[in-house]
Amino acid sequence: MWLFRSRRSTRRTTEDSSEDVKIPSHLAVFMDGNGRWAAKRGLPRSAGHRVGAEKLEDLCSWCGELGVQYLTVYAVSTENWSRPEEEVHALMELFVEFFERFDPALEREGIRVRFAGDIAALPERIRTVVRRAETNSLHRSRMQLIIAMNYGGRREIAQAVRDIARQVADGTILPDEVDESTVASHLYLPDVPDPDLVIRPSGELRLSNFLLWESAYSELWFDHVLWPDFSREDLMRAFRSFSSRKRRFGKVETP
Ligand code: FPP
Repeated sequence: MWLFRSRRSTRRTTEDSSEDVKIPSHLAVFMDGNGRWAAKRGLPRSAGHRVGAEKLEDLCSWCGELGVQYLTVYAVSTENWSRPEEEVHALMELFVEFFERFDPALEREGIRVRFAGDIAALPERIRTVVRRAETNSLHRSRMQLIIAMNYGGRREIAQAVRDIARQVADGTILPDEVDESTVASHLYLPDVPDPDLVIRPSGELRLSNFLLWESAYSELWFDHVLWPDFSREDLMRAFRSFSSRKRRFGKVETP
């Protein structure tokens, strides 16, 4: 039952328990640990990515049902291209397949798809999938799935700085007018609010160039579970922890 629903974090009583859990409006997730999951089973790394992509389908469904408004997932970073050619190829095939197979479910669940990253630098075949997924889903409004694809936080900030420098050079804005909101308005998806919660499974404790600007005040949750094993209960554990956080955004708490 919804207690209330808005663009801000919502509190709701979850279906599977009577507890009152705060649901982040914007959740960002590292799909991390696929390679180790596969290695533990003597499988190629690409097998881990395949199960990881299936887990993304589950995550979309859980988040849509729980009332998350924006879900950003780290799919391919600007650094991932230096992996073995075979793995990069498998990732690209999975990406194409994901939209072929999962689009009807995305449509049913009202999930709009958007991308954050250096899309222009991707091969034409992938850019076609990106364009189609974005255009086909424009009308959906239940949740936005944002796929960080060829994404790097530093590259995103550098590109924003470049755009602003051009505007300064052509006299559109003055250097003294450049502030935090100017930079924020030149990021990949300026209309998307900053993530409330960032989840990184697989035991790694770093940001790895993900949403560097946007996560300045995000709550962080680290878990040892490998992404292909990530369960709804793991998600709820992160949400329960998020519910107990006092977010002060650098200010002092007023009584
Ligand atoms: C990180 O785990 C995961 C990736 C680099 C790829 C994630 C991509 C997918 C799950 C599927 C493709 C995307 C879509 C949108 C369908 P890792 O390989 O670094 O794992 P490891 O740390 O155990 O080696």
